Amino acid sequence: MNCFKMDCLLTLWYKFYLNVVGATYIFKEQIWDRHRKPSVPANCEGTNIVITGGSRGIGLEAVKKLLNLKCRIIVGCRSVDQAAKALNAKEYNEQLTILPLDLMKLSSVRSFAEQVKSTGIPIHCLINNAGIMFGPRKETEDGFECQLATNHIGHFLLSHLLFNNLEAAGTAEKPARIVNVSSIAHYLGSWMDFQDLHATKRYSPEQAYGNSKAAQVMFSQYLDSMQASKVPRVRVLALHPGVVKTDLYTHVWWVKLFDWFAWLTMKTAPQGGDTLVHAALAPELAQAVVTNKYLENSRLQRTSDFTASLENQRKLWEASCQMLNIQEFGKE
Ligand SMILES: NC(=O)c1ccc[n+]([C@@H]2O[C@H](COP(=O)([O-])OP(=O)(O)OC[C@H]3O[C@@H](n4cnc5c(N)ncnc54)[C@H](OP(=O)(O)O)[C@@H]3O)[C@@H](O)[C@H]2O)c1
Repeated sequence: MNCFKMDCLLTLWYKFYLNVVGATYIFKEQIWDRHRKPSVPANCEGTNIVITGGSRGIGLEAVKKLLNLKCRIIVGCRSVDQAAKALNAKEYNEQLTILPLDLMKLSSVRSFAEQVKSTGIPIHCLINNAGIMFGPRKETEDGFECQLATNHIGHFLLSHLLFNNLEAAGTAEKPARIVNVSSIAHYLGSWMDFQDLHATKRYSPEQAYGNSKAAQVMFSQYLDSMQASKVPRVRVLALHPGVVKTDLYTHVWWVKLFDWFAWLTMKTAPQGGDTLVHAALAPELAQAVVTNKYLENSRLQRTSDFTASLENQRKLWEASCQMLNIQEFGKE
């Protein structure tokens, strides 16, 4: 079989696989694993949270909920004006800061981290939420495939740059947290090619998304396990927020065509936001064992065998450090 036919078959397989997984989860989330409310304290005053992508979708809803719980929030987003409008920023004064961040540009991630640090406030939680899904293959100015760059590499760099601050804010009883908003699509990352992480040889939008989400799971598990040798002051969690009706599905034809059906069957953005609030604040997660696990509907569940493999986690970790020229994570 020639290479062209092989590429077409693989692309179709990834599409089919992701649609089957997505449909199974829509069914699961609507029938036997219905939405669970976050179990968090009613007043979280004194907790400072940094979140990426709080201007739309799940992130926006999570920020609204966290503000209501009295957390202080720093939002990183591409359009400060859009976020300020969506969040009614004038109402919150000191409680809300919105700063420019474009995860597709390493220079922007660095400048965002600097601005966060210059606020001088302790950082108790970093929520790596912003993300993109599918679309044609594009490269960032730094030469990275854009889904991997936005969903994983930008967040890996941000976590590295803020890690010292998180460690300083965390305690043994109440460690700081990094929450990576991954997806059930991480199962599709099981075909990740470590030799071609930027998909230069063959590009399937579905697989590139799956790779980026698998990378977030592996990053979370590896970094969390690295803390296990000492008393951890930072815990690292990954989660799937549900199959949620947001703008993320811009490139999914059936959601565009059958909007009413998607509205009927998918979770709402506020429900998705609840899963981020739970991961950021639920007290029981402070000491939870998260090896090979992530949160689905706010409960710890096993992740794919591929992402649970320590060998795969190590390979991804080393590749990420190499791409970003990081000698020692958390130290600049
Ligand atoms: N919706 C679902 O069913 C679902 C399922 C599993 C996982 N997730 C994950 O949940 C997260 C949030 O998704 P969503 O459904 O809320 O999607 P969404 O409504 O499309 O929102 C995506 C957010 O990410 C931001 N963003 C995108 N590219 C960015 C960049 N280069 N730099 C900074 N911010 C950027 C967007 O900001 P702009 O306004 O500037 O574009 C927006 O705030 C994503 O990581 C997604 O993979 C979603």
